[in-house]
Amino acid sequence: MNLRRELWATSAIVLLAALAGCSGLRSAPYKNAQLPVERRVDDLLSRMTQDEKLDMVSGAGWMESRANARLGIPDIRMADGPMGIRAWTGSSALTNSANAPLKISSTAFPAGIALAATWNPGLAALEGQAIAQEAKALGRDQMLGPTVNINRTPFWGRNFEGYGEDPYLAARMVVGYIRGMQGEGIIATVKHFAANNQEFKRRTVNVKADERTLQEIYVPAFKAAVQEAGAWSVMSAYNKVNGEWCPDNSHLLIDILKHDWGFKGYVVSDWLSTHSTPAPANGGLDLEMPGGPNIPTWIATAKNRPGGDQATDGGYFAREKLAAAIAAGQVKQDAIDDKVRRLLRVMFANGLFERKPHQANGPIDTPEQMAAARQVAVQSIVLLKNNANLLPLDAAKLKSIAVIGPNAAVARTGGGGSSAVRPRYAVTPLDAIRERAGAQIQVGLAVGVSMEGEEPAKDTPQARAALLAEAVDLARKSDVALLFVGDGPKIESEGFDRKSLDLPAGQDELIQAVAKVNRNTVVVLNAGSPVLMSKWLGQAPAIVNAWFPGQEGGHAIADILFGDANPSGKLPVTFLKAEKDSPAYGHYPGENSEVEYAEGIYVGYRHFDKHDIQPLFPFGFGLSYTKFAYSDLKVSPAKAGADQPVEVSLKLANSGQRAGAEVVQLYLHDVKSSLDRPVKELKAFERVELKPGEARTVTFKLDKSAFSYFDPAKKGWVAEPGAFEVQAGSSSRDIRLRGVFELTK
Ligand code: BGC
Repeated sequence: MNLRRELWATSAIVLLAALAGCSGLRSAPYKNAQLPVERRVDDLLSRMTQDEKLDMVSGAGWMESRANARLGIPDIRMADGPMGIRAWTGSSALTNSANAPLKISSTAFPAGIALAATWNPGLAALEGQAIAQEAKALGRDQMLGPTVNINRTPFWGRNFEGYGEDPYLAARMVVGYIRGMQGEGIIATVKHFAANNQEFKRRTVNVKADERTLQEIYVPAFKAAVQEAGAWSVMSAYNKVNGEWCPDNSHLLIDILKHDWGFKGYVVSDWLSTHSTPAPANGGLDLEMPGGPNIPTWIATAKNRPGGDQATDGGYFAREKLAAAIAAGQVKQDAIDDKVRRLLRVMFANGLFERKPHQANGPIDTPEQMAAARQVAVQSIVLLKNNANLLPLDAAKLKSIAVIGPNAAVARTGGGGSSAVRPRYAVTPLDAIRERAGAQIQVGLAVGVSMEGEEPAKDTPQARAALLAEAVDLARKSDVALLFVGDGPKIESEGFDRKSLDLPAGQDELIQAVAKVNRNTVVVLNAGSPVLMSKWLGQAPAIVNAWFPGQEGGHAIADILFGDANPSGKLPVTFLKAEKDSPAYGHYPGENSEVEYAEGIYVGYRHFDKHDIQPLFPFGFGLSYTKFAYSDLKVSPAKAGADQPVEVSLKLANSGQRAGAEVVQLYLHDVKSSLDRPVKELKAFERVELKPGEARTVTFKLDKSAFSYFDPAKKGWVAEPGAFEVQAGSSSRDIRLRGVFELTK
């Protein structure tokens, strides 16, 4: 054979082999969407080379996993949540800045804490679904949310993202949210696993918490997300838990999550949070993010950011590092196969192989999505105080309204950090009040005080005095003064904790001065966490908590203030009178990068109850413009075996003049127990809408999970026989009905 013929023959053979390979792949079982997911996973895994497997377990960039052209494996395209979709081109420092390279708009939904205040898992599903629809419209596959970390301390900068202080409430909300989101085929990521409860030294802190505390307080919402809602992804946290980094923490990731709970999806690292190769590879981490060639630049940038924690690291699941660890016998092949298997499973189950090409340019901010944002915001608003029925305002009787405060003409849609989205529009309280008040009522605006840290020129004593005088003047000559105060995204944010539990500088003084000249002063708060109020509580006849309500917040606030909607939100966190009353007081933020959760399971109202501390406003509290009467509590059976459900029913009537909704709350008190237990714990609730005069029987079923505590000695849940008291009421401190049952052996 001469050289030319030889070359031709070789090329032909190569070409034929490639064609055969391709056509072989085209009909390969993994390409067949009709086949069961596990069959497709097995097939594809068997076709992957070792390098291809290793390439799958770290990202290709900031928010994308690695695609594989030979096998037709798509990338997984992620975006931050949890209250809308943030641009995915870089960290929030970049995407939230004015010169962001990609300006993505999406609906700004109310923050997680607001969602929790609705006590309406159906609305959580609606928000999850609406966000997922927008994710699809923008061509993303996976949302990095929801956040379910418990509000341990009111100082935490990210309290606004989560669902408050109670594990049961958080569990009910996250199940709704994830079902809504994943029902649309978008992968939800429940984060940050686990015990990620402060920003101060978040990348280095070692959380010391005992097993019972973890099991009863800090992981139940994750468990419900996995077991009840089938969450496909879990994000490990930055911090250490009991000495081990969360992405390396085999107790959390393997023993609890994958073994005990049967999690079938993948664990993704928080961004730049790995510190070595073998430990996370063996500890249960499946996908390291971000990944790819830009890691050194990202690490350097993150380290230079002011206020940022310095121990940023990553890039440990790069192919050559993993290959070396395997060659050295530090990581087993099975561990790698398991990671790839999990990633492929989730991709098949969510149709990623069939979604071609990724759709984008779909509709966002649709009328339905805007309506969902408004509905959540309306139901989230908590009426804290309403002396002499100052609210709702009677528009027919008003001639003038003073709209005052740093949050009046600015829509405080959410807090700062990776959850911040750019809505196309956002309704400010001022806009909405003008719209609702109409031409007959004069609506005046005065800033009163600028938001601390936002406009340094206005933070001087002279500038403050002038703004205050203007506000007092306006308030004095108006029929009512509506004061919009609270926090903004520079006060409550990811990346740092709050400096103080007081309102930002000058706001207490503003409230005092305005309330002095106008008896009809209504304080409306934007905050994601409790604020202290003792300096003005007695002077303010009405207080409304509007959280961070998303882009429709202004409308929702006006709906409540003018009585177009009846407030029904209830606090998902205890509001405290003083910092020293906080459960974590003395054990936050820790020392030398170590924080001890010494209060144990006594977090939130469990702490206030145990130590008999009077809260400012208790967990579960919220007023309405109508009244509700509770009666006829029935508990059956009176004696039940541990595996037998106990049914609790009661009658709820709207005994006032307006239609409204009440959240009926059911707490359990274990009368006698071998282990110390909280005075009461929330075990069921239902939001019930009633017309005036209407009554309804509300029924709850309590099962073994409601009676049980975690026994560290037995390493498991125990439903101990004995008497239980059922407490039904309108808040954790407003118990209207009591009943008992006995758990038998
Ligand atoms: C945050 C995560 C977020 C990730 C990606 C991290 O700093 O803790 O919540 O999903 O960045 O933006």
